[in-house]
Amino acid sequence: MTLRIALSKGRIFDDTLPLLAAANIHPAESPETSRKLILPSVEGDVEFLIVRASDVATYVQHGGADLGVVGKDVLLEHGGEGLLEPLDLHIARCKLMVCGPPELDLHANVRLRVATKYTQCARAHFASTSRQVEIIKLYGSMELAPLTGLADAIVDVVDTGNTLKANGLVALEHVADSTARLVVNRVSMKTRHSLITPIIERVRAAVASNQPN
Ligand code: ATP
Ligand code: PRP
Repeated sequence: MTLRIALSKGRIFDDTLPLLAAANIHPAESPETSRKLILPSVEGDVEFLIVRASDVATYVQHGGADLGVVGKDVLLEHGGEGLLEPLDLHIARCKLMVCGPPELDLHANVRLRVATKYTQCARAHFASTSRQVEIIKLYGSMELAPLTGLADAIVDVVDTGNTLKANGLVALEHVADSTARLVVNRVSMKTRHSLITPIIERVRAAVASNQPN
């Protein structure tokens, strides 16, 4: 029986590889050079599904994949139904922030226009402080929205702050901290327990040995 692990290309795939290696799981090909969307592993007992970062939770929720690696930001936005989240991998560390031009007053008595791909998180954040906002859905390059007048502010992930700085924007409010999580389909955890549990425990040990004491 082959286990399926959903991963996105780029930073999640690259940063997860050394952790999976600790569980003796090695992709046979790289998603950067292969056009295949199902990549076999060297060992043959696991295969990798290469999906968009925002689709990982959906694949695991519906059983298209048994396991996945996904940012907490995406999980918060998705809602996490049907998923177990047994492990924080402490990779892809970033913060979900409300950002905008430095002079923007987020508490002024006006209905702000907020552009984001994190529409649920943004709505919940402003609602929790009783502020009315208009949410504008975008799929990327959020920083453009305040520069072009499309929106007053954005909700996006921030790491170094370099992207904000390069576009004359600043982080104004914290929404959530994010790191990548190992997620497991609830049914797979029961039916494939003997295959999944050793993977979780070996990855857990690898994560622990990466952490500063
Ligand atoms: P999609 O392709 O679905 O739009 P994406 O472009 O956000 O997703 P990535 O950029 O690979 O995909 O980001 C994957 C995850 O890595 C994000 O969900 C977030 O948790 C984290 N992340 C995003 N940007 C950064 C960053 N600059 N530094 C650290 N972690 C980040
Ligand atoms: C993410 C995010 C920001 C940037 C923040 O984009 O959307 O633009 O990282 O990181 P920083 O604070 O270190 O500059 P990413 O690089 O993933 O590109 P993307 O637009 O393809 O998601």
